[in-house]
Amino acid sequence: MITYYSQRAAEYDRIYDIPERQPDIQELHRLCGAMFEGLDVLEVSCGTGYWTQSIASSAKSITASDINDSVLQIARNRTWSGTAVEFRQADSYALPDFDRRFNAAFSGFWWSHIPQNRIRDFLLGFHAHLAPNAPVVFIDNRYVEGSSTPISRIDENGDSFQIRKLGDGSSYEVLKNFPSKDELTAAIEGIAHSVKVNLLDYYWILSYQKK
Ligand SMILES: C[S@@+](CC[C@H](N)C(=O)[O-])C[C@H]1O[C@@H](n2cnc3c(N)ncnc32)[C@H](O)[C@@H]1O
Repeated sequence: MITYYSQRAAEYDRIYDIPERQPDIQELHRLCGAMFEGLDVLEVSCGTGYWTQSIASSAKSITASDINDSVLQIARNRTWSGTAVEFRQADSYALPDFDRRFNAAFSGFWWSHIPQNRIRDFLLGFHAHLAPNAPVVFIDNRYVEGSSTPISRIDENGDSFQIRKLGDGSSYEVLKNFPSKDELTAAIEGIAHSVKVNLLDYYWILSYQKK
């Protein structure tokens, strides 16, 4: 997965150009621009900074991390005006000491790549960097027959996989889960309040406040 996204860096943002998904994409941009006004946001697995840009339209600051330097280079080369944006190379499962607690958090299209048996540990590690009651937002894909890349197999842990091809012809097997609304709410049971799951046609949005 890490190699796949490193190799895909230059072509990554094309996924957001699919014509039939544009109304949903615009809604996600609107939400990212509206939900973090005046807040100091921690974003993990930020990729090329595509959603970071929308968050930056209203947040006070953003600290955004990803494990791959190739995507961070693209993110750093975007135009960042006004909002303080800092990029850090970091493993989302083992985040560094940021010397502060953030009062908001975001991650886009990362949850679906986390093996189900690692989600709780990831969340606990992520939450450790957040202040109580910090709003947390995850966005990700719903599985849409005929639009999503087909699931190639499901393993013994219930994680699903897709075969992804890049422009150079190389192909990778990538873990990609499509959690239900119930699975999303179960994952944060006991560590969140004010939970909302919003289903668009192609995407889901999980928002809550850290307990
Ligand atoms: C589907 S992309 C999402 C990128 C970006 N958030 C977006 O929505 O456009 C998943 C990202 O997770 C990153 N990634 C994979 N494994 C990671 C890990 N262990 N820690 C941090 N980032 C990781 C990849 O480099 C990639 O940028």
